[in-house]
Amino acid sequence: MAIERTLSMIKPDAVAAGNAGNILQHFEDNGLRIVACKKTRLSLAQAQAFYAVHAARPFYNDLVTFMTEGPIFAQVLEGENAVAHHRSIMGATNPAQADEGTIRKLYASNIERNACHGSDSVENAAGEIAFFFSGAELLG
Ligand code: CMP
Repeated sequence: MAIERTLSMIKPDAVAAGNAGNILQHFEDNGLRIVACKKTRLSLAQAQAFYAVHAARPFYNDLVTFMTEGPIFAQVLEGENAVAHHRSIMGATNPAQADEGTIRKLYASNIERNACHGSDSVENAAGEIAFFFSGAELLG
């Protein structure tokens, strides 16, 4: 299997609840190496840009408001098949449908306040990683 990198975000709900450390540990326990990590707070413009692909969706404005309500953690995770593996351990977007033991089952409240984000393809991961990190910040 290919070694990939993916962009992972711990969202404001999970950070405010004090679950960032547990979620970072969950990644390492599941074989994903943290090659970069930062705590930051998205501006309105940054959140709008990051989720621009969803701009036409009815939940877009609420999503952007949520994503700017407090700090987030952004990290780059590396491992075998990292994009799909990360999405698998996050669980379904809607925590009500997430498998037991997944991050969203453990820590998410609802389909919007769902604790974490992960890139959905290697191509999108490259763009999302560049959104948060310079090449020099990726410490493989
Ligand atoms: P994420 O994986 O970050 O990708 C887009 C986000 O939009 C998603 O997680 C949720 O936070 C949010 N989202 C997706 N679908 C819905 C929905 N039906 N209603 C509200 N928010 C949603």
